[in-house]
Amino acid sequence: MMELSFEMIKEISKEYGDSFYILDSDVFKNNCEKLLSSFKQFYEKTNLAYSYKTNYIPKLGKIINETGGFAEVVSGMELNIAERIGVKPESIFWNGPVKSKEEAERFLVSGGTINVDSYSEFLTVYEIAKNHKNDIINVGVRCNYDIGDGVVSRFGLDVEKDEFNKVFEMISSIDNIELKSLQAHFANRNYKYWSAKAEGMISVYDKLVSEYDIKPSFLDLGGGISGDMPDSLREQLKLDKFSFDDYAWRAATVFSEYFKDKKEKPWLIIEPGTAVAANCMRYVCRVETIKDIRGKVFITTNGSQKNISMSGINPPMRVVSCEGEKVDCDKADIAGYTCIESDYLYKNYSGKIGVGDYLVFGSCGSYSVVMKPPFIFPNVPVLDISSGKTELIKRAEKYEDVFTTYNF
Ligand SMILES: Cc1ncc(COP(=O)(O)O)c(C=O)c1O
Repeated sequence: MMELSFEMIKEISKEYGDSFYILDSDVFKNNCEKLLSSFKQFYEKTNLAYSYKTNYIPKLGKIINETGGFAEVVSGMELNIAERIGVKPESIFWNGPVKSKEEAERFLVSGGTINVDSYSEFLTVYEIAKNHKNDIINVGVRCNYDIGDGVVSRFGLDVEKDEFNKVFEMISSIDNIELKSLQAHFANRNYKYWSAKAEGMISVYDKLVSEYDIKPSFLDLGGGISGDMPDSLREQLKLDKFSFDDYAWRAATVFSEYFKDKKEKPWLIIEPGTAVAANCMRYVCRVETIKDIRGKVFITTNGSQKNISMSGINPPMRVVSCEGEKVDCDKADIAGYTCIESDYLYKNYSGKIGVGDYLVFGSCGSYSVVMKPPFIFPNVPVLDISSGKTELIKRAEKYEDVFTTYNF
């Protein structure tokens, strides 16, 4: 990843302002390739369904689509982005606990797959199928089982309940519903749980084949993978050193072992978000003021914790200095522009820093741009510099953008 010098930032800021995101889409692409090949070495028939919610910059969805990956969406809004990018309905999986019936109906009739999150949602899909006798309706079922991490996840259907079996009985009784996928998502990103994630899935698949003779084409293990991160972040998150292979080996060998003598092998799908998006974005902002209050130094910036989404930890940060007067700080807090008392981007910074210096925060690609509210300032632009030129990915928002939905 290209290091940003003061001159480079200054040049960019002349056109785009003093606070912006830098996207490195090549890093995203490499992460996807690396993650996929990790899984493929143990189970060849693996593919990615990129989790749009993590960072729905259209260019990222396009990269996945162009390399043969799928779109994992959780709302009509994300579905709309995938469709605008040109992703075919067959390449879109719609998860998410709440879906609008109208959008669901249109999507299903167009050939997309909805992974139902509850029995009542399945009944809605069943109704849609009955109303569209001439269309094949592709459905998936989100499965909820215990992976031993002490969390009772709220997603999907409990695989031990009668309602779970009822879904498959009803699918068997209707001609135009095809069970495309089984899906499970557990938020825990510790690779140690990935054997249990895969074993639980295989056990549901095994039951479906033996009891209902249904063979879904996709077994989807959801998200919950961490990617490359600086040691400083890893230590604060109390994570040990691991790689994509640690996840892949645990999950994909369960698949390769189970399917080794079977003629039909389903696709193993993973839904990475953080794993591929986190380290592909940096956030740049500028030091605006430095002040001392009863012996504590506060450095205030034109950025906010809301821009980087990380809280309670110190993100990877580099000070890119301009010439000029510096303050030698000991345990200073770097604060945001909002009026929230707890808006800190970094705590206990020790070192030299001056007004006009830029701060570059790394690992800002996941749940940042998509979660940043237009609180106090409109949102800042996103620029891709991976080609050596500056490509505008998202322009700076203006006051009109923020207020356009209000009646004045
Ligand atoms: C269904 C689903 N898939 C994928 C993801 C992405 O997971 P992660 O953030 O661990 O990459 C999420 C995150 O909430 C999710 O809910």
